[in-house]
Amino acid sequence: MKKIIAKTYDDVSKVGADMLADVIRNKPRAIIGLATGSTPIGMYKKLVEYHQNKTLDFSQVTAFNLDEYYPILNSNPQSYHYFMWEHLFAHINMKAEMINLPNGQCEDPQAECAAYEKKIAQMGGIDVQVLGIGNNGHIGFNEPASHLALATHLTSLSKSTIEANARFFSSAAEVPTQALTMGMGTIMQAKSIILLITGSNKAAVAKEIFRGQVTTEIPASLLHLHQNVTVLLDEAAAALL
Ligand code: PGA
Repeated sequence: MKKIIAKTYDDVSKVGADMLADVIRNKPRAIIGLATGSTPIGMYKKLVEYHQNKTLDFSQVTAFNLDEYYPILNSNPQSYHYFMWEHLFAHINMKAEMINLPNGQCEDPQAECAAYEKKIAQMGGIDVQVLGIGNNGHIGFNEPASHLALATHLTSLSKSTIEANARFFSSAAEVPTQALTMGMGTIMQAKSIILLITGSNKAAVAKEIFRGQVTTEIPASLLHLHQNVTVLLDEAAAALL
């Protein structure tokens, strides 16, 4: 696991955007895995900038997002579908048919998850997967547990995730209690992974993952078993390392 510590959130956002841009410039048909949450917003802003100054072309890129609440309408401003259009897709030239998120509006979540997993495999797998991390060590919505699912699946959000995400809703009671998420196997099959960790509230979990151990109680610690992971931290998140 490679570790890069940049000074500020903006510096992390730039390093992350540059890494993603490099993948796309080297492979215009890249398959990229994307994440939501407050952490990657700065990186998406940079990518939009690169597109606007004509140094980055998304016209042949395919994207797969990590997760989506379930059930939720795409038109709900809290949906990850809405988030991705707001922060990235509406501002770049990625083709709509090449944008994939688990469908929070589907009737049959099991069938949706199986189809999502199959589509990623059929496309040849993800070249670079962007991840954020929850305070509890989750990646995607793979929450701490004694067993972690391999493939894309319907899952229940942990209490700590519901509390952490309540800031985006009018109250914790409004946060959906379930989500569709890539599984740990889906994530680990990505050819490369960029994990973004920013802010002092993530310092404790950053310390946990650099303990030199793996545990399903901190799902992100399993990234130690992947050969090509870069963890980008700002100084605030790296404070306890
Ligand atoms: P955050 O969420 O970027 O809003 O902190 C990260 C996550 O829960 O994976």
